Amino acid sequence: MIYKALTIAGSDSGGGAGIQADLKTFSAFNVHGMSAITSVTAQNTLDIRAIFYLPSPMVKKQIECIIEDIGVDSAKTGMLGNEKIIKAVASTISKAFKKKEFPVVVDPVMVAKSGVYLLQESAVDAFIKHIIPLAYIITPNKYEAEKLTGIKIKGKEDVKKCAKEIKKLGAHAVIIKGGHIGENATDILFHKGKFTEYEGRRLRGCTHGTGCSFSAAITANLAKGYNIEESIKIAKKFISTAIKYGVKIGHGHCPVNPISWIAIEAEKWKVYEELKMAVNKLLNDNIIDLIPEVGMNFAYALPYPYAKEMKDVASVEGRIVRAGEKARGGEIKFGSSRHLAKAILKAMEHNREMRAVMNIRYDKNILKKAKEIFSISFYNRQQEPAKIKKQEGATIPWGIEQAIKRVGKVPDIIYHEGDIGKEPMILILGKNPEDVLKKLTKLKI
Ligand SMILES: Nc1ncnc2c1ncn2[C@@H]1O[C@H](COP(=O)(O)OP(=O)(O)OP(=O)(O)O)[C@@H](O)[C@H]1O
Ligand SMILES: [Mg+2]
Repeated sequence: MIYKALTIAGSDSGGGAGIQADLKTFSAFNVHGMSAITSVTAQNTLDIRAIFYLPSPMVKKQIECIIEDIGVDSAKTGMLGNEKIIKAVASTISKAFKKKEFPVVVDPVMVAKSGVYLLQESAVDAFIKHIIPLAYIITPNKYEAEKLTGIKIKGKEDVKKCAKEIKKLGAHAVIIKGGHIGENATDILFHKGKFTEYEGRRLRGCTHGTGCSFSAAITANLAKGYNIEESIKIAKKFISTAIKYGVKIGHGHCPVNPISWIAIEAEKWKVYEELKMAVNKLLNDNIIDLIPEVGMNFAYALPYPYAKEMKDVASVEGRIVRAGEKARGGEIKFGSSRHLAKAILKAMEHNREMRAVMNIRYDKNILKKAKEIFSISFYNRQQEPAKIKKQEGATIPWGIEQAIKRVGKVPDIIYHEGDIGKEPMILILGKNPEDVLKKLTKLKI
């Protein structure tokens, strides 16, 4: 079964919102995305420079073509722009509406984050009259809810009042988004006479395109057959992820990352497979002498921008240890190493490409060889400031930072000579586990 969702919206040349965000979001939910473009905007992360509205018959034709041949499981409207387009869209989808062919999510896009009006003032009445009654669910933000009702939103009670008023305009369900309301970004749904709150921690991240991606996520999940409440629950989780892993580009409001929803899972699998293969190779090799007292480990982080915390780094659970004449290692698990995870996350702050690291026993001869063929640096644990020493888990990031600063880049090798009760250690860093293994082979004496 292939689910198909249609977006009727404007193009954002910067790729952060509008049609572009909608199609990425549909893909993230494994839904086939289709589009009827209403307008073309010339915009980037800073502002919208120009808007060109497509002739309304062309908008109409796009929708008709899609319905006639491919079929639609759910649709959303975004930027509609002017009265002519509003009427064309309404007349086209009202036929489907009457036959209950597919649900329509209406995102009443009126003003952009940069303050530019995306719905002509003269078109607001037409929007209320022709589009809102077709909405299975409408998704206004604070300003749109205020504009549609004339009520000023100061708190939750005002939000609820607004939702009831908007429902009276003919929408089946209303969700007022909390992106611009209150301490938490809580969205409030009014459906079948009942309010449901979708709480979310307010995140600091990229927020260009939140509204479009959120309504597209609801649309995609409706297409798959989830009900309104379930679709919103999923969409809320999705948008938080997309904000957290936003794409840091441009000089203004950076866009959300809809693809993060699937990319993280896909990358996790790749990391797991690559590391597992490398660890198997390593264990089959004669490495007993390379294992330090505290055990050896091999860690591999998710790529940028997905590597943020320990849980984003895979390693060998329980470390690689000596078992008689052989080396033995546990399962590959995310979040199972503290030390190496911290080391590689710190290294990635300086060079995103360096994602893998292994620790081996400190050995003067190995270091001598390393100095001949690799870039190498160190840190001195005896110079660790008292403040860092006291702070749980701060030593490694501090040390790695020192070592990187010393040579002005992330080197192949970082070592330290220990401290009282601390075993000296050598770290081998690389782009991936295979890269680290190659370096290790070159170091073997
Ligand atoms: N800083 C944030 N932290 C967490 N969630 C957020 C944040 N900003 C927005 N959201 C969530 O994103 C979704 C979209 O809400 P928002 O109010 O930003 O829409 P919008 O103003 O229409 O966005 P846009 O300007 O992209 O059209 C909602 O689920 C909202 O709770
Ligand atoms: Mg919006």
